[in-house]
Amino acid sequence: MSLNKLLYIETFGCQMNDRDSEIMGQLLKQVSFEATDDMNAADAIIVNTCSIRGKAEQKAYSLLGALRKKKKENPNLIIAATGCVAQQEGKTMLSRMPHVDLVIGPKHIYQLPALFERAAKQKKGIVAIDDASPFRIPLFLPSLETGLPHKRFVTIMQGCNNFCTYCIVPFTRGREISRETGDILCEVSHLVAGGVKEITLLGQNVNSYGNDQPKETRTNFASLLRRVAAIKGLERLRFTTSNPKDLSDELMCCFAELDVLCPHFHLPVQSGANAVLKRMNRKYSIESYLEKVEKLRGYCPEIVLTTDIIVGFPGESEDDFAATMGLIEKVRYHGAFSFKYSSRPPAKSCDFDEIVSEEDKSRRLALLQCRQKEITLERHKEFIGQDVELMVEGQSKAAHGQWAGRSDTNHIVNFHCQETLVPGQIVRVIITEACFNSLRSTLVKL
Ligand code: SAH
Ligand code: SF4
Ligand code: F3S
Repeated sequence: MSLNKLLYIETFGCQMNDRDSEIMGQLLKQVSFEATDDMNAADAIIVNTCSIRGKAEQKAYSLLGALRKKKKENPNLIIAATGCVAQQEGKTMLSRMPHVDLVIGPKHIYQLPALFERAAKQKKGIVAIDDASPFRIPLFLPSLETGLPHKRFVTIMQGCNNFCTYCIVPFTRGREISRETGDILCEVSHLVAGGVKEITLLGQNVNSYGNDQPKETRTNFASLLRRVAAIKGLERLRFTTSNPKDLSDELMCCFAELDVLCPHFHLPVQSGANAVLKRMNRKYSIESYLEKVEKLRGYCPEIVLTTDIIVGFPGESEDDFAATMGLIEKVRYHGAFSFKYSSRPPAKSCDFDEIVSEEDKSRRLALLQCRQKEITLERHKEFIGQDVELMVEGQSKAAHGQWAGRSDTNHIVNFHCQETLVPGQIVRVIITEACFNSLRSTLVKL
């Protein structure tokens, strides 16, 4: 392949896709593709897709559709669709979008250079989505030259075994596969030795890490956390996401034990009504969820909780929705992502009856988001007057002339400073003002 080809990657979806895009960029760099932010200048375009809701899938298809014209203008342009829509659609995607050269599932990204080489030679589209062969996430040390200097994601597992009835993920990412503990430790050590200060461990349900390994040699998620936390030089450790059903006492205890573990827990509840949780196959009740919340706060009183909520799941009654509204009053989450239920074949709930009308879904979502916004602001105001340590992110994008840092509770905090700061640097501030998306502060110590 000739030198200096340009690669543009558009990433949709979750942090797992963000991390996969980094991996793909790094792999293709090794065969002379430089990253570009300008799609029009690119010799190759990757659309890393997400399938979680109908809208996400439409976004991917509309971008891929728009690339038809570009391929006509430049037949040598390589177009690849990766991620969850690619895995799910396979050949169908090629017949809908014949200008796409490659359709690649998440487990096949490591073969990208070879697949690109094939695509450059052959006219016919290539599909690599085979899910049957055994797969182990390889040890692939992240590049320190590209990517953020101070914080990184490390994938610890692929897939999900839970089959929540609304969810497409088990169909796109397959069954749970935990990475080798040694590989994870090696990757984190490599990053930390290269100056990275903060690591977020990624998986669709990190709490079940290790469950697919033999019992005798198994490392569970709490043990993994302890081992990662012990890596010298690591300042902040986070993880996402957790299904509350698998949240163990041992894991909760880590919040009291491990200094580097940030006091923020994203604990998706999905609904406040037991009848809905049951039909969602979440395998916990609201009572047991609330018990865990209380326990977590016992171990770590300052812990910040955020969540995900779906409104309008089939059969969700007005009373069920009222229970969800009641739950957010009880827990008083610092933040919540909320979504209208979206039917995702072949997920099981597609066959459920008692469909909630679009109108009811929109009304419920607006009510929920409006109240949660107030609670978030109330929660943010509780920080006013507190002395907080921030990890510098860079210059604020929203507040002109200010710097932005992140608290260990995962809040964006802006502040004035005349000096030039570097990402990853720790500063101390006093919180002075609270907004919905961020906090404002005064610098007290560099
Ligand atoms: N593994 C995570 C969820 C990842 S998907 C967990 O179990 O918590 C992120 C969020 O998208 C979910 O928490 C859920 O709130 C939402 N979501 C997933 N499928 C959805 C669907 N079919 N319709 C609407 N929202 C959905
Ligand atoms: Fe989807 Fe449930 Fe797995 Fe989360 S735990 S990825 S919501 S099936
Ligand atoms: Fe989307 Fe796949 Fe992530 S469906 S949320 S990109 S696992």
